Formats: sequence, structure tokens, C-alpha cells
Amino acid sequence: MSVQIGNIDLGEFPLLLAPMEDVSDPPFRYVCKQHGADMMYTEFISSEGLIRDAAKSLKKLDIFEYERPIGIQIFGSDIEHMREASEISTKANPDLIDINYGCPVKNVACRGAGASLLQDIDKMVAMTKAVVEGTHLPVTVKTRLGWDDNTKNVEEVAMRLQDVGIKALTIHGRTRSQMYKGQADWSLISKIKKNPLIQIPIFGNGDIDSPEKAAAWRLEYGVDGMMIGRAAIGYPWIFREIKHYFATGEHLEKPTFAERIEACRTHLVKSIEWKGPKTGVFEMRRHYSNYFKGIENFKEYRAKLVTAGTFDELDDILNELERNPRFASPAPVMEV
Ligand SMILES: Cc1cc2nc3c(=O)[nH]c(=O)nc-3n(C[C@H](O)[C@H](O)[C@H](O)COP(=O)(O)O)c2cc1C
Repeated sequence: MSVQIGNIDLGEFPLLLAPMEDVSDPPFRYVCKQHGADMMYTEFISSEGLIRDAAKSLKKLDIFEYERPIGIQIFGSDIEHMREASEISTKANPDLIDINYGCPVKNVACRGAGASLLQDIDKMVAMTKAVVEGTHLPVTVKTRLGWDDNTKNVEEVAMRLQDVGIKALTIHGRTRSQMYKGQADWSLISKIKKNPLIQIPIFGNGDIDSPEKAAAWRLEYGVDGMMIGRAAIGYPWIFREIKHYFATGEHLEKPTFAERIEACRTHLVKSIEWKGPKTGVFEMRRHYSNYFKGIENFKEYRAKLVTAGTFDELDDILNELERNPRFASPAPVMEV
């Protein structure tokens, strides 16, 4: 059965790209979309920044037609400012608005935003209501299991936010105090999904990093879809690999070295297109080791890539890499 968020039809069991600060920008989203992400989000955008007209926050509202369906994620601690941020984000014409109630980092959660709202559900409900009122678009929410082990209140959160009109909920199977440590626990997510009073789609998030795990957790927890974050960094093929495994029970071939280079080059080109030559080249540096993770003897090239200053230099290095027989993918074995 197809998953619906408002009028958005996501097909059966959608795979969502997680919002990730400084990662899920338009260049990264481009490669994830190419490789099968069904829905994507911007990184979280500060409501205060949007209201102040801060250039950095406004830039994050940039979305492109080929990205649809796409959600703009906002966060903040002030209810009226979140309403305004909802109005401002709506003008950027995304497909939906998402609220971040999951960010655990101190300078967000300790300033009354992100996951800290898990400690004050009444305020979370009022804030969500304001965001829903600030837009004609569907509003979704991303959150965690609760603040800590003793206060896993996401069941109440799900029910109350559904009541004020959210159209889907993504739950990261960790508490705020866990940050990113330990393993994600999806059992509570599953309980919410199975609650007959919950009518909205429930997406599971946390630690999906292989087709096997995706298939096993889909079966075990019965969620409507999955959101994938870290496993897609430098490895956008994760989306199509999971889909192929769902459809056939077989593994898709891993990307060849040439395909890794191609995805990396596309990411670089899009990065320069969107950020300009200087920042585009500079901010791409954090991605090279991810695209070539696990490739032996890559160190020397990595050093070249992270010090090159222009697209032409980088293009030369990537071309050289492509020609280097040391990295050539093995020829397929012919059956006789
Ligand atoms: C670098 C990084 C930045 C993140 N930024 C955001 C963000 O802006 N908004 C958000 O809701 N979650 C953010 N997260 C959390 C992810 O969306 C996701 O919930 C988390 O990484 C767990 O999923 P995973 O195990 O598939 O990575 C971030 C995570 C990482 C690693």
C-alpha cells in the first residue's frame, strides 16, 4: 500500500534521506536522489535565523524541482517565531514542513529547541499547532524516544501531535541522552506504529546501514518506511541497494570504482554550482574519504584531493584515479 503524506504519494515503503546539518545540502541531495532516495529534507534551519533574514539560514531554503518531494526542516524554542518560520519556509515552496524535536546537541537542546521539547510536551504541542497554522502544507515531525531512559514519552508525543494535525512522524530510536551512542532501539517505534489510534505514517530511523538490516527491521518493526542518515554519506547507493534487495532478495552489485568517481565528481560539480568555486571546493573536502572508504592505498590521493584548490585540479586528480590500474574494478568472472 502506498504511503501518503497529505497529497504526497510516496509509494510503498519509502526510503527517506535524513536531514543532516552541513551534509544534506542540495549537492548531496542531488546524488542521493539519483540513487533512489524517495523523499529528502533540508538540514535543520533555525527559526531565529529565518526571521532575522540571516543569509546563511535563507540560503538553506534553496530547493530544486528535481528534488521533490522535499521537506524543509525548522527548529526553534519560541512558539511565535516557529509560526513565522513556518510561513517563511512555505514561501520557498517545498512539499512539506518538518519540525525538529530531536537534535541533542547542547547549543540547540539546551536553548529550549530540538530534543529539549521532549521535556515539555505541552509546549511541543502548542509549537506544532503554530507551525501547522503557519502553512497550507503538510507538517511532519522528527523526534527521539524521549529525553532519557526514564522518560521515554514518544507514545504520548505521537498521539498528541497527531491530534494537532501532523501528517507523519519519524522517530530516531535513541533518547536525547544517548546522543548517537549505543544501538538504536526500534521496539517503541513499532509499538506506536501498531497502535490502532495512530493513523499517520510512522517512519523508523537509526542505524540502518545495509539491505539485510533494512529488510529484517522492516519485517520485525512493521514501520511505514525508513529514514537513512549516516549510511548514505559517501554511499548514496544504499537507497537503490535496499530497494533491489526488497524487490528480489538479492544483492545489487556494489558500485565500481568508476561509479564512485562519477558520484564524487557530480557531487563536486553541484557543490561548485550551488556554493561557488571557493566554498564549493572547500566544503567538498569533508566528503572524499567517504566516497572512497575501504579502498586500499587511497591515502596518497586523499591527500591530493583535500589540498587541491580548483575544480580543474580536482578533475585532473579524479581522471588520474580513473586511469590508475591499481584501482580498476576486477573484470566480471565469466562462467564457462
Ligand atoms: C552530521 C549529522 C547531522 C545531523 N543533523 C540533523 C539535522 O539537521 N536535523 C535532524 O533532524 N537530525 C539531524 N541528524 C540526525 C539524523 O537525521 C539521524 O536521525 C541520525 O543520524 C540517525 O540516523 P542514522 O543512524 O541513519 O544516521 C544529524 C546527524 C548527523 C550524523
